[in-house]
Amino acid sequence: MRATATHFLKALNSHLGRHHSNSTAMKLLYPTSLKLDVQSIEGFPLTLHAYDVKTPIPDDLIDAEVLVTWANAASNLKDAAGRMKNLRWIQSLAAGPNDVLSAGFDASKITITTGSGLHDRTVAEHALGLLLNAARRFFEMRDYQLQGKWPGHLGGPQPDRPAGKFTTLRDARVLIWGFGNIAKTLTPSLVGLGSTIKGVARHPGVRNGIEVYSEDKLPELLPETDALVMILPGDPSTKHALNAERMRMLPKHAWVVNVGRGTSIDEDALVDALEAGTIGGAALDVFETEPLPESSRLWKAPNVIVSPHAAGGRPQGSEALIVENLRKLLAGQQLRNVI
Ligand SMILES: NC(=O)c1ccc[n+]([C@@H]2O[C@H](COP(=O)([O-])OP(=O)(O)OC[C@H]3O[C@@H](n4cnc5c(N)ncnc54)[C@H](OP(=O)(O)O)[C@@H]3O)[C@@H](O)[C@H]2O)c1
Repeated sequence: MRATATHFLKALNSHLGRHHSNSTAMKLLYPTSLKLDVQSIEGFPLTLHAYDVKTPIPDDLIDAEVLVTWANAASNLKDAAGRMKNLRWIQSLAAGPNDVLSAGFDASKITITTGSGLHDRTVAEHALGLLLNAARRFFEMRDYQLQGKWPGHLGGPQPDRPAGKFTTLRDARVLIWGFGNIAKTLTPSLVGLGSTIKGVARHPGVRNGIEVYSEDKLPELLPETDALVMILPGDPSTKHALNAERMRMLPKHAWVVNVGRGTSIDEDALVDALEAGTIGGAALDVFETEPLPESSRLWKAPNVIVSPHAAGGRPQGSEALIVENLRKLLAGQQLRNVI
């Protein structure tokens, strides 16, 4: 056992660019901002230390090599970026770790891995809920309920799958822009309800039986879309991906659902389209500025569902990802979810 641990330690030291094996044990800092089964990440030649994500890292932990982050204060990350000189690997539990990326860590020395995969089920469920809300207009029923009024136009006999309206997922043409892990989890539920799914990603091809196109095909895809589900990361390449020009390509009845990052939609252009009635509605879980400012025109725009970044927020299987990446690190293998 001891020989194995020494081997691991040497491998870790060598991987982390250290050349002496008798240095003090390496440290992994894990956050107290979520409940982790710490026992299940024991057994590696590292010591594990809890830390508070809202305050600066204590001096006795500042030499840690590995930092696991979840819901850290911006000030905590900025301080860590400046003071944690031995840091070599950050495992974020967020699928889109924009907070870590903007904190000023030295990308040439530190490997950053995301929590993509930990939010698949929760975000897929939320996206499905937003789509159903949009099609079945629960939001409008609630508006009437709060006024003590019967929304008669939404009940009783209804046309079945009327053309030019988004009223059901059956036969709906759903385009998922950002066809990654979350999209792959969402797709079977939509297929089960009778939707036709197409995807958009950087790399075209067939994924999980779904045809995925590159962005240059959007002019053909958007006009054939009843519901556009955006699940894009919030990096510079996706800034205002859905802009005024692309919104104009959507049919007038099409809904936009966004559970990725708010920066991928030009919100001013979206409000203009909603107010002009050139798109059907928008169900948004993420916004360019969060919390959505009181001054935002989105609050009062027609057919908008505001969800307060509630889709994810509870990483599932974090321990398994940390263990998998620790093992890969020690084996000198490529980590999972490297940015
Ligand atoms: N609302 C919430 O609470 C919540 C929770 C979790 C995650 N999220 C957001 O959801 C995002 C996606 O998560 P995920 O786990 O599904 O990530 P993922 O598996 O990495 O998938 C991201 C997808 O986006 C595509 N993509 C990236 N940049 C693109 C670009 N410039 N143009 C077109 N496609 C692009 C990728 O294409 P390729 O596959 O071709 O590379 C990939 O298909 C996260 O980054 C995060 O911001 C939100």
